[in-house]
Amino acid sequence: YVLDIDPNAASKGTYEFYMLKEIDEQPGVMRHISQDYLDENGKPVVEQDIVDAVADSDRIYILAAGTSYHAGLVGKNLFEKFSDIPVEVGLASEFGYHFPKLSKKPFFIFLSQSGETADSRVVLKQVNERHLPSLTITNVQGSTLSREATYTMLLKAGPEIAVASTKAYTAQIAVQAVLAKAVGEKKNVADAKEFDLKHQLALVAEGMQQLVDGKEKVDELAKKYLAKTRNAFYIGRGVDYAVALEGALKLKEVSYIETEGFAAAELKHGTIALIEKGTPVITLINDPATADLTRGNIREVESRGASVITMVAKQFANENDDIVLPEVDYYLSPLVTIVPAQLLAYYASKNKGLDVDKPRNLAKSVTVE
Ligand code: AGP
Repeated sequence: YVLDIDPNAASKGTYEFYMLKEIDEQPGVMRHISQDYLDENGKPVVEQDIVDAVADSDRIYILAAGTSYHAGLVGKNLFEKFSDIPVEVGLASEFGYHFPKLSKKPFFIFLSQSGETADSRVVLKQVNERHLPSLTITNVQGSTLSREATYTMLLKAGPEIAVASTKAYTAQIAVQAVLAKAVGEKKNVADAKEFDLKHQLALVAEGMQQLVDGKEKVDELAKKYLAKTRNAFYIGRGVDYAVALEGALKLKEVSYIETEGFAAAELKHGTIALIEKGTPVITLINDPATADLTRGNIREVESRGASVITMVAKQFANENDDIVLPEVDYYLSPLVTIVPAQLLAYYASKNKGLDVDKPRNLAKSVTVE
């Protein structure tokens, strides 16, 4: 195997921070994954043993931490839709000490950029003791989790240096989509066979490019709404709820603004008490089933004084929306929605004069429990 990584990939070039470089690299990462994991006819190119093992399972357990856990929450939607297999997503740190009752034929997927996360290793150790099949999806070839699992797939995102994970998150979602389609095709699932992932990933790459090209608009939003605030919220429904959790983690870890992600309707069950004049509520809308309901949640928080920032898919957008997201398939929409959320975190941090790449108290890979 020859590592096809550009020797300059780990250099900052003209960028002030790796985080922005890595955000900007995402359209290229999507193309790379599409080229390497899908053939010219759009058929997934995945080791047959992996496809067979996942297809043979009656439940997939996805284990991870932090951003990778959030990618797993998106992955659940992909595997259930395209592979027709139920999925449970677990925080490795909880799962490791509180194993749930497993299904009869479980298959374990470990998502880890570094492949070194101690919390995940605890779970994998027990999976191996029980002789159960596992797959590590990682960005680092030869990493511990990839050596210890039954199978490995690489993210092919290139080195990720900034502590805040960006391109590994989108790569994790794209690679899960490839695997979900491969398994679904093997099982003859119509949704998988009909889904043109190659075309969809091309649309995603184009859409990401538009969003990174429009980064100045996001900088303005950060300056207007996030320069002084102590706290903020992300809300969304369906896959946007998963993206809300990741958007909130990005913003809090690099800007130190206390941010929480919520399922849009949950705010009114308690947290709405925290909304004051000017509290930023970043609202994500991609889900056709609930777009109107989420608009209703915007009105609820606006009437309590919130400053709402909207990131809305083109087909649901109006002229008052702040960020119009390019139209891509709903199941892949997290790949584009997260880009302005990452940029918002980046600018909120940079505009405060913080060290964007090295937030306080954090390490790139967390090798202790
Ligand atoms: C997110 O920006 C963090 N870097 C962190 O949450 C990270 O995703 C988590 O520690 C898991 O790391 P891994 O993907 O290397 O296992």
